[in-house]
Amino acid sequence: MVRRSFSSRVPADLGVNRLARALQEARAKGRPLIDLTLSNPTRAGFVYPPDLLVPLSHPRGLTYEPQPFGLPQARRAVSADYARRGVSVAAERIVLTSSTSEAYSLLFKLLTDTGDEVLVPRPSYPLFDHLTQLDAVTARPYDLEYHDGWTLDLAGVEQALSERTRAVLLVSPNNPTGSFVSRHELKRLSAMCAERGVAIIADEVFADYQIRPGACVDAGRTTDVGEGLVFSLGGLSKSAGLPQVKLGWIALAGAEALIGGALERLELICDTYLSVSTPVQAAAAELIACGAAIRKQIQARVASNYRALIEHVEAVPACTVLVADGGWYAVVQVPSIGSEEDLVVSLVDDGVVVHPGYFFDFPRESYVVVSLLPPEQDFGEGVTTVLRHIERSL
Ligand SMILES: Cc1ncc(COP(=O)(O)O)c(C=O)c1O
Repeated sequence: MVRRSFSSRVPADLGVNRLARALQEARAKGRPLIDLTLSNPTRAGFVYPPDLLVPLSHPRGLTYEPQPFGLPQARRAVSADYARRGVSVAAERIVLTSSTSEAYSLLFKLLTDTGDEVLVPRPSYPLFDHLTQLDAVTARPYDLEYHDGWTLDLAGVEQALSERTRAVLLVSPNNPTGSFVSRHELKRLSAMCAERGVAIIADEVFADYQIRPGACVDAGRTTDVGEGLVFSLGGLSKSAGLPQVKLGWIALAGAEALIGGALERLELICDTYLSVSTPVQAAAAELIACGAAIRKQIQARVASNYRALIEHVEAVPACTVLVADGGWYAVVQVPSIGSEEDLVVSLVDDGVVVHPGYFFDFPRESYVVVSLLPPEQDFGEGVTTVLRHIERSL
């Protein structure tokens, strides 16, 4: 008998895809590339104050004070940051994590048994495949539909719910569609979930980044939901452009009794790992405050690149920018001349990198997804190259 050495939680096929191979080759040859998939804010030309991380070296970080949910002052700082956005969440309902990815893992441990299901939006964040598989959870899709704006297919959610569904994942604003969950959608979804004992996990890491003025105010407020169980996820990675600092959080909302039960169990899970470093927690208030300067730069860049994208694409009738209300990404519908994969690989030859729509599980072709983070000049040149390539192929 051949014994298996490794868990099936890690995919058997670890090979790189065609786009990654084309990129490796182009980089090995030293070819200059404009990266329109750039999602790392620390590499996007923003000005980070050189003394931003000084609070991490404060002597208060020399004393280890293990607290499963994090130091009270850090939880209060996160609560105050919610208040900045006009959202009220008590510090006692905030659980610190080292990242949003870790928050998903903690919540899957809290809510699911092996083989249980969670519903994930489609199109959405590609990491959900790994995040669910690594915790032995089955991901079932529900659709976001586009009709001059994105809506959540609530009938589809209802159909996808099964005896084994433990949570519905929401991303608001979503990566890459830029759509916020509306108040009406959230109301119906939370009623549907509460009735069936299904939790909502709302990834709101991009909540600070609205593209359409008023989008944040119009959006459904997950932390105000008073029934069932709702977990809202956030973190410095996006809210302050500090992914390297590793500070995220979960804010709990819903029915009092359920929140109590969830906190008791989460305490044990978090106490098992104690993964958030003391210096980061001790410096949380200062990092959140200083992060505002970086957030402002990102907000301005994202808005200006989205406007530029609309202008460039307007000149090419075969292409359309889908409406994005927020987030760091934009979706461009392009003519289906060949496969998305052929298109993105040939664009590497032209010196520009974009994501194909299938990477985010778009149900059909052809879309390309661009990040709105690159410096304005690179962004404009990259988009022009993409559009010229498409025009040439028509
Ligand atoms: C929707 C979404 N959630 C979470 C993350 C990652 O957050 P963190 O760095 O806190 O794990 C990303 C990163 O791109 C994202 O797009």
